Amino acid sequence: MGFRNRNLISILDLSRKDIEYIFKRTDQMVSLLKERRTLNYLSGKIVSLLFLEPSTRTMYSFQAATYRLGGKALVFASKTTTSLAKGENIGDTIRMMSAYSDLIVIRSPYDGTALYASMISSVPIINAGDGKHEHPTQALIDLYTIYKLKGRIDGLIIGVLGDLKYARTIASLLYGLSRFNPKKVYLISPGNLTLRESVRERLKELGLRVEEVRDLREIIHELDVLYVTRIQRERYPDPEEYERVKNAFKITLNLLKNAKPDLKILHPLPKLDEIERKIDNTKYAAYFYQASLGVPVRMALLASILG
Ligand code: NCD
Repeated sequence: MGFRNRNLISILDLSRKDIEYIFKRTDQMVSLLKERRTLNYLSGKIVSLLFLEPSTRTMYSFQAATYRLGGKALVFASKTTTSLAKGENIGDTIRMMSAYSDLIVIRSPYDGTALYASMISSVPIINAGDGKHEHPTQALIDLYTIYKLKGRIDGLIIGVLGDLKYARTIASLLYGLSRFNPKKVYLISPGNLTLRESVRERLKELGLRVEEVRDLREIIHELDVLYVTRIQRERYPDPEEYERVKNAFKITLNLLKNAKPDLKILHPLPKLDEIERKIDNTKYAAYFYQASLGVPVRMALLASILG
């Protein structure tokens, strides 16, 4: 299916072919960026960035991607500087922004905001994270990173460790993996941080088989990729629950002594203390490379939707 003027609300809006198309366009963007070429895929276009939740990488990489493609960006990055602070409802804000721009990138603390926005907007909507629900552009970056580092996604053994309960990046990554044929996907959930039932059901429907383990040590030697997230503090309705789980796991160099030499660790960032700092400078750490791909992947997506 073509990308022109499409919304991206869930990674499941994309088929395997669509995802592979984005990979191919991302390759092109990576080379064009290297050559420092001036691009005009978005010349004359305006992209709105509506960020109602903190963001560093996602917001600035969307902004950089827009500029690199020759477009312009309107940034609504805070509830305090826009009319939302005066109590304007989000629907009115979106309606107005769709009149001011050619595409809206939206992040919100609430599940379903992006879908809601797509129902009232006259321009395409890209979900940049809606509550604990999904973060499809991060999943594209994650899948592309794995593909570049390993040459494939099919046949790999992938471990996912962290806040399986609330991390939207994990939900989107797992849905995205269901479009491929990994050999095995391990869910490593210390404490009570297991997948929500709704996500589990969806994966079953999608045919992605996952195996749950409590302790990374049981399976570390099998993994080709380990995907880690922080505990999503802001999603815990009960601060005491957060306190109980916040130190539930930590990846140390010592723990990696049984890992495959070419194990790659990914993390959507920001990371807190879940990965020992020493690991940053080892061959295992792929998260800074992964973060650097945010711009070319988002360029590929914007150019496909608007270019
Ligand atoms: C993630 C998010 O916002 O869900 N950040 C990001 O976009 N890279 C992950 C997180 O906040 O832990």
